[in-house]
Amino acid sequence: MFYFGTNLKMHGTVKRHEAFLASIGENLPAEVEAFVLPPYTSLYALTRSSLPPNLQLGAQNMHWEDEGAYTGAISPIMLKDAGIDLVMLGHAERRNLFGETDSTIHRKVVAAARNDLTILLCVGETMEEKEAGLTRQALTRQLTVALDGLSVPPNLRVAYEPVWAIGEGASEASEEDVIEGMQTVKDVLASLYGGKVVEIPVLFGGSVNAGNCASFATLNVVDGLFVGRAAWQAEGFKEVLQKSLLARSQASP
Ligand code: PGA
Repeated sequence: MFYFGTNLKMHGTVKRHEAFLASIGENLPAEVEAFVLPPYTSLYALTRSSLPPNLQLGAQNMHWEDEGAYTGAISPIMLKDAGIDLVMLGHAERRNLFGETDSTIHRKVVAAARNDLTILLCVGETMEEKEAGLTRQALTRQLTVALDGLSVPPNLRVAYEPVWAIGEGASEASEEDVIEGMQTVKDVLASLYGGKVVEIPVLFGGSVNAGNCASFATLNVVDGLFVGRAAWQAEGFKEVLQKSLLARSQASP
């Protein structure tokens, strides 16, 4: 199984997203577990689209409380009520632009698990941490705080996204960077969950595109790819996915 998804961030309209989903849902390869994270306004509308069973919709964020005086926030119960079973937590933009901390992300992880949501937990070191040789320390901290007290994460996926590789103007990660970060994430998960770690897919994200996806997708430590800009058009989504799958099938026919 290969995981492949995109975060649409704060882009697009319902109409555009409907066309996007219809296009990527058509002939979606069966060996893929695909997901799309649209903005909330599109999310509910899109639950009425007919999607293949291996294409899942998810939210980009949520609050940790089930309800309350939290103006502008969306709760886990509201997501479930809207028919959503997947939520991303801890994206670098939430951490850096909206002040989310390891401990608020932890509260969200607990709330998501309590409400039976599949969690896509994003972690990644900043450029300062990388340059100071603190990548392992940063990833270990983010994972252990976020997952504190969760003995068996039922539906957990982790996305390793180095902050310095995300978005416009970012650097591309080398294969060595990806291997080091992914292996660290897997080591930390193994120390927390032992043998169950094999059940936790770890995806790589950050400037993944049609040119570099094959080299990342064929690394042993990569269970999937999490793509931003390069997958926001249906053609791009399909091209990156197709190239990744082709490279994987050629690497281990
Ligand atoms: P990018 O975004 O692929 O555009 O760098 C990745 C992300 O934010 O998850």
